[in-house]
Amino acid sequence: MGKIKIAFFDAKDYDKQSFVNSNANDEFEIIYLETRLTEDTCKLAEGCDVVCVFVNDDVNRAVIDRMQQMGVKLIALRCAGYNNVDIEYAYGKIHVVRVPAYSPYAVAEHAMALLLTSIRRIHKAYIRTKDFNFSLNGLTGFDLHGKTVGVVGTGKIGRIFIDICRGFGMNVIAYDKFPAKDSGIEYVAMDELWERSDIISLHCPLTEENRHLINADSIAKMKKGVVIINTSRGALIDSDALVEGIKARHVGAACLDVYEEESNVFFHDYSNHIVNDDTLARLISMPNVIVTSHQAFLTNEALANIADTTLENVREFFVKDTCTNEVCYKCANLNNCKQTHGKKCF
Ligand code: NAI
Repeated sequence: MGKIKIAFFDAKDYDKQSFVNSNANDEFEIIYLETRLTEDTCKLAEGCDVVCVFVNDDVNRAVIDRMQQMGVKLIALRCAGYNNVDIEYAYGKIHVVRVPAYSPYAVAEHAMALLLTSIRRIHKAYIRTKDFNFSLNGLTGFDLHGKTVGVVGTGKIGRIFIDICRGFGMNVIAYDKFPAKDSGIEYVAMDELWERSDIISLHCPLTEENRHLINADSIAKMKKGVVIINTSRGALIDSDALVEGIKARHVGAACLDVYEEESNVFFHDYSNHIVNDDTLARLISMPNVIVTSHQAFLTNEALANIADTTLENVREFFVKDTCTNEVCYKCANLNNCKQTHGKKCF
């Protein structure tokens, strides 16, 4: 077999750098495309064996059909979450692989960076001292020590975030659909987590059942002044309900690395434009909201791991008969997929 041809959508400079630096690079011909994968841009993958995509490429039914017609064999996600791929529809048509972990530390550390920035008003102080304004008025924060953090999702990232919080002397409670046995974590029911937490941090995947997990009802159950952190997926939070919760002074602060409508704006420079998303504009205008644009993963270590694992996923698919990091709707929802035995899912 000649070089494996990969159409690499939504390519940024830092992506190219890490893939070019990857040791495995010689076996592949990678076509870097700045555009996102959509029904209209699909045709750019003509003649390619693999389509490589990121979090905001929309791999819907029409895209899957088109790619199958063009002979694309594999969708290689260079991220962990796969909510942007219709994996049920893809089953039997085209295989999907992902990078299950590239640096859980990067995301967990970013969540803590956002929390500290927010509650110690670092974002305000930074701008003030740049302007030689050394006043402390309005910069009063609170100690994390002794506060209760509620962690939703205790997988790789959630567990590291828990360790970091414990290092700060915080009390940790958690909710997970599949609680980890013998982990020493205090698992509580969802409502109890809302009621007891001073800080809530989301580390679960986005699924059909937990879309808008944080909504007007759950916010009403939370403590007044609660700080909400979301480094997982934007649609876990009903953004309009969050705006209302902050306006009502019920939510004390929000730290958002993800946003439900982010695919329209994140990763692009709109500094000379009028942003049409009023909810996002309102959130950004609030002094107690910090938004980063899906940046939590962005460390040198994570980028190197993403490149190496993605190319290894592709090689494994074409060269061996296994597909360790394949994901299908059976593995994801039913736990009865043969993939658990190391084979391709179908
Ligand atoms: P993981 O798969 O190791 O852990 C996810 C945990 O969530 C598991 O323990 C699982 O049992 C639990 N879970 C599943 N459904 C749930 C539900 N409905 N309610 C509560 N818990 C549930 O995943 P990992 O690596 O810890 O990543 C977590 C999430 O972080 C990813 O799904 C992704 O959305 C997000 N992420 C964000 C990044 C960023 O740059 N902002 C980068 C990487 C991941």
